[in-house]
Amino acid sequence: MKQDIAFIQREELKAKPEPVSLGFGNYYTDYMFVMDYHIDSGWHDPRIVPYEPITLDPAAMVFHYGQAIFEGLKAYKTADGTIQLFRPEKNMNRLNESCARLCIPQIDEQLLLNAIKQLVSIEKDWIPEGEGMSLYIRPFILATEPHLGVRPSHQYKLLVILSPSGAYYGSQLSPVKIHVEEHYVRAVIGGVGHVKTSGNYAASLKAQEEAEEKGYAQILWLDAKENKYVEEVGSMNIFFKINGEVVTPKLNGSILPGVTRDSVIQLLKHWEVPVREARISIEDIFAAHERGELEEVFGSGTAAVISPVGELNWNGKSIVINEQQIGQLSQRIYDAITGIQLGKVEDPFDWTV
Ligand code: COI
Repeated sequence: MKQDIAFIQREELKAKPEPVSLGFGNYYTDYMFVMDYHIDSGWHDPRIVPYEPITLDPAAMVFHYGQAIFEGLKAYKTADGTIQLFRPEKNMNRLNESCARLCIPQIDEQLLLNAIKQLVSIEKDWIPEGEGMSLYIRPFILATEPHLGVRPSHQYKLLVILSPSGAYYGSQLSPVKIHVEEHYVRAVIGGVGHVKTSGNYAASLKAQEEAEEKGYAQILWLDAKENKYVEEVGSMNIFFKINGEVVTPKLNGSILPGVTRDSVIQLLKHWEVPVREARISIEDIFAAHERGELEEVFGSGTAAVISPVGELNWNGKSIVINEQQIGQLSQRIYDAITGIQLGKVEDPFDWTV
């Protein structure tokens, strides 16, 4: 069903922040997209409205049973002023995967993508320009029905908010220290780790906090069953370059299928750099380091794009990777992806929209 998107104009626009002070996720634009769902009428009333607080019933099910999911993607302004999205259909698709897992009704992916395009073009003056700069797009859905019985909600709200952002980790591409977590787990097979539920991030905070207390920037997550196989790093996917070959954990039902992860794999194949998705034990990573074969380690995600790992601490032992320097391949991947996103290099994959 084709639905028109209504637009309610605001009276006064906000002052825009200075690009240098942006950071990540600190500012929000003038407008947001909203759409509601009711079990009797389906998704309805798609609209772009002034950005403002929303009111929810204290009994809204999201507060009690956590039916909440989100996505993250970015809009970029190229040197000639063109506005580009990066592989947005992958995010629309994954949002529906998350809906399916949390019993949230499916959304019309085309309608949502059109809404995002309209919203971004209304807000084009909010897109910061330059290296590491983008307009972060955050679609999310929450259960709004006031009800305390445990079952899927009969009402939902979908919103899209926009946040002009600089680089996720402040300075670009500085290698971080990572603690390999042996007590807490991020996700279990059969659980929700392969989709983007808000609860996954809540569950990760404790380990993150303890790692920070020990002086580490992030956690490297191991599998929940054997505490042996590498899964993700922080909120990103992870890659290892070992003796010329790049390996990343194979999607197994508890790992998030990252859009940047997929882009890295496709880029490496395009460059004819050997790349493999496999089950990788943390023991094998430390053994590769022992043999002098662990060349580079990096995380991949929408927010930071590529985040090099400079040190890994596991089981009381620390190893330093590539002398805490950014690896050549990590830098090449970062330059290629951000180059495509910013329209600085040719896009052989047709990733930009
Ligand atoms: C990403 O790397 O894009 C993430 O998922 C992190 C985000 C939750 C800020």
